[in-house]
Amino acid sequence: MNYVEGSATITDGRAFINPKAKLSRDATIAYARLQPGIKNALDATSATGIRGIRYCKELGLEEATMLEINASSYESLKSNIRSNSVKNAKCENTSVQEFCNREPLRKFDMIDIDPFGSPAPYLFDILKVAHENSVVAFTATDTAVLCGAHMSACIKTYDSVPMHNELGHEAGIRIMLGFFARLAAQFNYGIDVGLSFSYMHYMRAIVKLVKGSKAALYSVKKLGFAYKCHKCGWLGTEQGPFTTVSRCPSCGSEIETSGRMWLGGLIGEDVRPALAKSMGEVAGSDKRECKFIESLALEPDIPFYYSVPKLTKLMHLPSISELVLAKRLSESGHVAAITHFEKSCIKTDASIEEIKAAIISISKTVA
Ligand SMILES: C[S@@+](CC[C@H](N)C(=O)[O-])C[C@H]1O[C@@H](n2cnc3c(N)ncnc32)[C@H](O)[C@@H]1O
Repeated sequence: MNYVEGSATITDGRAFINPKAKLSRDATIAYARLQPGIKNALDATSATGIRGIRYCKELGLEEATMLEINASSYESLKSNIRSNSVKNAKCENTSVQEFCNREPLRKFDMIDIDPFGSPAPYLFDILKVAHENSVVAFTATDTAVLCGAHMSACIKTYDSVPMHNELGHEAGIRIMLGFFARLAAQFNYGIDVGLSFSYMHYMRAIVKLVKGSKAALYSVKKLGFAYKCHKCGWLGTEQGPFTTVSRCPSCGSEIETSGRMWLGGLIGEDVRPALAKSMGEVAGSDKRECKFIESLALEPDIPFYYSVPKLTKLMHLPSISELVLAKRLSESGHVAAITHFEKSCIKTDASIEEIKAAIISISKTVA
């Protein structure tokens, strides 16, 4: 086997490797390059080691520690570290949990959890080897759970009710971030979300820790609920430990409720202007990836989005382009833009009544 990605060449393929996760690795490098002071990293679920090897080489790390629980995957990891001539990486055939409980005095500037399925079982332990300002990156591939196809599994794993509709992907990321914010608060850390997105089969979040009980409380106060009215299309959010909204404030119908979840930002305002350029500078990053990251950086910091086809269907009108609607709302002074989470949807600060008025006016000009 010979798989080349960025600065790494994987020759020993006895461990799992997924070329579709290249964007996750590239984007993490693009983000980490914008963070000063990342000198060491823990690649906690290494498999072939492609992530840790790339981080070592492309972030110029002084040191990396790479863990792999499976014995034959560990042989692949060792062999790939050697063949890539990475001198500053140590690897261990052990579990994340065992390592973090054995080495609580070791502290890492960057920690990456990229497991099969949910990151939930690992996040408490990795906080033991984090420090203030650590960057913690984690992947979830249990997207069906986070997006509401298995509600009880989401309640069990993340202690949160998912959305099983077009809002599912954003709700899923927010549920995962809310879960992490609650754990981090136990260690007196707040969270500052650097970058988070949903892509193909996975969700990815990169978060910076912020030290102190005040920061922890500030983050936990950003947890809350999301609401969706299927009758009129209204959506809303509410921060706080309790839900006080049971009927749609627009039409009075019953609403779908999801949460608790993170209702803070999904991308750091500090990295937003520089992210696309940083992605373009990652070795081997391609046009499609750069465009994707550029689109993330342009998404407004507004929770959730409206499905334009669903709204026009509710209104018994022919479908219109989401780009045309976003342009019309922007022209009338609103923030409005498409989202990467779902096709034909827009994020906007306009109310449901204002959106519907814009749809009617566009339909008239089109007809
Ligand atoms: C999805 S793969 C990792 C892929 C890799 N990070 C990449 O970017 O190509 C997950 C790996 O985590 C390992 N693993 C599972 N549970 C673990 C644990 N508790 N501690 C350490 N490694 C674990 C699995 O054996 C598997 O090789």
